[in-house]
Amino acid sequence: MEGTRKQLIELLFSHQSDYVSGQFLSEQLNISRSAIWKHMNELKKSGYEIEAVTNKGYRIINVPNALSEDALRWGLKTDWLGSRISFHQSVQSTQMVAHELARAGASHGTIVLANEQTNGKGRMKRYWDSKSGLGLWLSMILRPHELEPKNATQITLVAAVAVADVMKQLGIDIKIKWPNDLFINDRKLAGILTEMQAEQDQIDYIVLGIGLNVNHGLDDFDQSIKQQATSLHLETGTIHNLNELFQQVALSFEQLYERFIEQGFLSIKSEWEGYAYKLGEWINVRAQGEWPAKLVGIHEDGALKVIDQQGNEHLLYSAEILWS
Ligand code: BTN
Repeated sequence: MEGTRKQLIELLFSHQSDYVSGQFLSEQLNISRSAIWKHMNELKKSGYEIEAVTNKGYRIINVPNALSEDALRWGLKTDWLGSRISFHQSVQSTQMVAHELARAGASHGTIVLANEQTNGKGRMKRYWDSKSGLGLWLSMILRPHELEPKNATQITLVAAVAVADVMKQLGIDIKIKWPNDLFINDRKLAGILTEMQAEQDQIDYIVLGIGLNVNHGLDDFDQSIKQQATSLHLETGTIHNLNELFQQVALSFEQLYERFIEQGFLSIKSEWEGYAYKLGEWINVRAQGEWPAKLVGIHEDGALKVIDQQGNEHLLYSAEILWS
């Protein structure tokens, strides 16, 4: 967070029971009163509740619900997922930390979660914007020894449905853009990154990372993704408690994962399709040339099912889909 904002928050905190005048703040921070006002607006967008009273000044009423190891655990209803939670204020990437823990033998269900990632990883080596306190940035270590490596990507689809279910409970019209981006009205809310360590025919471990934008105001996103990204706060107008949200996502995933391991992906396929972005719509596919295709569903192995203009069915695995 920018230095002045941080100082401003500290000043507001040290006077929580009282109003702090704009004059006082501007002297302390050595910036104009209108600059203070702008900072206050930014803080409000980030979820701080600040009361402003004429002739008295500002007072902080509520802060964003900060993540902490205790708060993450308090009220967590899962059986095994999150039995160990490795919480960090700031890491480069929770994926990296989870890989290290997994290599050192961390058990199935271990979760790494951070307030901030300084080098968050997206799919296809992209960067994942993960600023402090604004979202859920977590990686789970899974050891599904009963699963064949070729079916590991299905876990990502399962995770997408698990997160989508939580969003649906919050009253949000959520879509899954194949394979596993969560979208609201054409803007990305969350992404999932699955990395696997396997030997021959056996999965050693999977690190499943979830990045969910929660309390961002528009200005909290990097310029480059502002037009494509959204957050729960932007969509619902309310500030969400990150700890509670984590618990909902963890429980939802644990339950769906168990069903997946017991009954296979077929038992989840229709739920995934129920959330499918652009289902029944025409898109363009770039695979051996470029051609229009209608998205009709998902195959039980997780491939995307489309039909071409001649009515022939195709299964797409890694084909580049031109969504718009
Ligand atoms: C994508 O849509 O490209 C996937 C984004 C995955 C981001 C999450 S945030 C937690 C975990 N740690 C990372 O560095 N990446 C994943």
